[in-house]
Amino acid sequence: MTTLFLMVGLPGAGKTTRARQLAAEHGALRLTPDDWMIPLFGAAEADGKRDVLEGRMLWLALEAVRLGTNVVMDYGCWSRDERFAIRWLTEAEGACFRMAYLPVDEETQRSRIAHRWATAPEETLPMSEADILHGRAHFEEPDAVELAGRGAAGPPPGYAGWREWAAARWPSFA
Ligand SMILES: Nc1ncnc2c1ncn2[C@@H]1O[C@H](COP(=O)(O)OP(=O)(O)O)[C@@H](O)[C@H]1O
Ligand SMILES: [Mg+2]
Repeated sequence: MTTLFLMVGLPGAGKTTRARQLAAEHGALRLTPDDWMIPLFGAAEADGKRDVLEGRMLWLALEAVRLGTNVVMDYGCWSRDERFAIRWLTEAEGACFRMAYLPVDEETQRSRIAHRWATAPEETLPMSEADILHGRAHFEEPDAVELAGRGAAGPPPGYAGWREWAAARWPSFA
């Protein structure tokens, strides 16, 4: 069955490393926004351009799944709603959704970010102490129910469905 893998975790958790392994194991198309943001804009975030890029990538991911190609979405996905939306959209295509959550403690996170900066500076941008703390404060850790593939409720109030929610979150998706 065609599968969409979604990487989840903080910067330095090892998502892209694992995403490369999954892509090789499953012949999957790997979509890593940083691989596009940095060459195109020289920044990981640039005036909302990341949301625009991610929306088109989500559109592309679902197109690939429709064609029977496995996909690895290397987005990080800090928000539970983002994960539920992508899961719903994947399953609506009749494909299998698999979340790959990589937890990381703060000390390991710092040492991996430093390691990456020392070994592959072209793949990354400097990350400040504030960036690390911001991430740790805002990341919505998947709970046991979500990890077991259950617990997806409907979208937040005001949205007809997850497709509408996704089009609001990533304006280029629709
Ligand atoms: N399981 C691991 N054990 C040790 N180092 C790792 C592991 N996974 C990744 N790394 C290293 O940690 C750094 C960050 O990994 P990366 O995959 O870029 O994280 P992310 O994509 O989550 O930000 C890289 O230098 C990578 O080589
Ligand atoms: Mg990465």
